[in-house]
Amino acid sequence: MWARTVGITATWLQRICCLPTAASAACWTSADCRSVTRPLIYTARGRCSTRLPGRRSARGTGALYDLVLALGERRGLRALRGAVLARASGRTLEIGAGTGLNVAHYPDAVTELVLTEPDAEMARRLRRRAGATAVVVEADAAALPLADASVDTVVSTMVLCTVPDPAATVAELRRVLRPGGSLLFIEHVRAGTPRAARAQRRWARPWAIVAGGCRCDRDTLATLGAHFDVTDVARHRWRGMPAIVQPLIAGRAA
Ligand SMILES: C[S@@+](CC[C@H](N)C(=O)[O-])C[C@H]1O[C@@H](n2cnc3c(N)ncnc32)[C@H](O)[C@@H]1O
Repeated sequence: MWARTVGITATWLQRICCLPTAASAACWTSADCRSVTRPLIYTARGRCSTRLPGRRSARGTGALYDLVLALGERRGLRALRGAVLARASGRTLEIGAGTGLNVAHYPDAVTELVLTEPDAEMARRLRRRAGATAVVVEADAAALPLADASVDTVVSTMVLCTVPDPAATVAELRRVLRPGGSLLFIEHVRAGTPRAARAQRRWARPWAIVAGGCRCDRDTLATLGAHFDVTDVARHRWRGMPAIVQPLIAGRAA
């Protein structure tokens, strides 16, 4: 019982801050791909994927994740998700979709929804929540099984904090997004004030250790700006969460 509780708690901390996936490509065939995900899921590298072997965190992790985020959702994040995702349209890809807290916010203008999530346990809950409204693909955001310029909207919420290589991930999002498409984002980031940024720097390593590699001090806006024109950005706070992960940016890049 204790071992199980400790295991779930540790995995939860990893989930909260997006533990980097150890996923690697294997067993990808275009036949599998077609049968499960429709012709959408093709890689630029001539492979396609419906299942990318990543981690499976402890059973129950998804439920715990939702429970821990519940306060933050109630205190503003849910509304922010709704406001940002209202701009999604056409064929839409969400990376690191977790347990699917965004699913209810997609507007009717979204004609096709692909949710990627490398963790099998999170993906299990995600599939339940998404039902028939979306295709769920277990994939790393830095190696998406999608063709170049094949989606109209890309969504990333609270994912770029921990992907192992944010620059490579953002470059991958650029690759799959069609010219003129939108990247919609909500990310926790480096604080805008020197004092808060110093506190983040001080706590970054211990936080990364307890939170499975999450960086609370990433300058994600700069990373996005290297590949995208960030047309809209607003700063918010992730209320109900520890101060070092409260600074949020939300907006659109093209
Ligand atoms: C904090 S959760 C956010 C979940 C969801 N996007 C949300 O807004 O609630 C971070 C998610 O990113 C996923 N993740 C971690 N590393 C990833 C990677 N390299 N590629 C894609 N997703 C990743 C995790 O499995 C986790 O579900």
